Amino acid sequence: MNELDALVDSARAAFAQATTPADLENAKAQYMGKAGRITELMKGMAALPVDEKKTRGAAINLAKQAIESALTDRRQALADAELQIQLKAEALDVTLPGRQRGQGGLHPVSLTLERIEAIFGSMGFEVAEGPEIESDWFNFTALNTPEDHPARSMHDTFYVEGGSEKAPNLLRTHTSPMQIRHAVQHVKRHRAALDAGQPMPEIRVIAPGRTYRVDSDATHSPMFHQCEGLWVGENVSFKDLKFVFTDFCRTFFESNDLVLRFRPSFFPFTEPSAEIDIQFQSGPLAGRWLEVAGSGQVHPNVVRNMGLDPEKYIGFAFGMGPDRLTMLRYGVNDLRLFFDGDVRFLAQFR
Ligand code: PHE
Repeated sequence: MNELDALVDSARAAFAQATTPADLENAKAQYMGKAGRITELMKGMAALPVDEKKTRGAAINLAKQAIESALTDRRQALADAELQIQLKAEALDVTLPGRQRGQGGLHPVSLTLERIEAIFGSMGFEVAEGPEIESDWFNFTALNTPEDHPARSMHDTFYVEGGSEKAPNLLRTHTSPMQIRHAVQHVKRHRAALDAGQPMPEIRVIAPGRTYRVDSDATHSPMFHQCEGLWVGENVSFKDLKFVFTDFCRTFFESNDLVLRFRPSFFPFTEPSAEIDIQFQSGPLAGRWLEVAGSGQVHPNVVRNMGLDPEKYIGFAFGMGPDRLTMLRYGVNDLRLFFDGDVRFLAQFR
């Protein structure tokens, strides 16, 4: 092997040993640098006779080109290797499921409340809201349920410190206090007309919200929902209540295959009073009477506490359980599921 071939081989070997671009540049300097082997050989040519210069120069050039091309190959190889390492380090597993932003939805009971509001809204009922921490007066006394009335014992609740008969002292046990609160506001709004002997626009309102009782099992929760309804005017009758409530139930359950029954009952604030039961004529619940609301004609003492003359104004009230309606609509059998906050349950209503 001649000297130039040996030089090319040794350059290839040196380049192959370089494992980083910096090593490679150092190795290159040994051959092509200012003091490199090729440079030395070029310098050595000065002493040669002219005709030898030509062949020697051509041979050295070939060797130089071979070394340069070995260098380029090695540079490329090192760059490729580095790229592979980088790709590996930054690798993405495209088969991993993407990170999704959870899609929220309304709670099933909220969906029911929205439905109730929409249906009664279409029948000309306003929606009113009131406090959950209520006073004895609105929750009981004004509703014809004086202290020591036995009906109070069915409404055991949670009391808050301070408060008094008229100052908030308990968590409301039903939405019925809203009958008084709303009617008083309504009367105030129309005071001038009333005083001038003009007719008062009818009170037509529903009042949905949270209510509380000391009660806890599969069908009772210490916190639950109610929706009150009140309709007071000079010419309102049980017939109207029956029509409106039947219409509501059929719209709510999207079924005309449904009948209602008014079953005599007792509430201190209505007289007469009735439980409203519904019965589906077909479907999974067919044939069973299901209690959905309490109702009745507003008691004269309550009409008086609204600031109205019971000889002139007559009204009907009802109180229904949106939780119960939600259970019936979706076939849920344990009320507590609504309040556990388990997304696996709640996501089904999205
Ligand atoms: N407030 C009653 C209850 O909680 C229901 C009701 C409301 C009854 C309005 C009659 C009229 O049981």
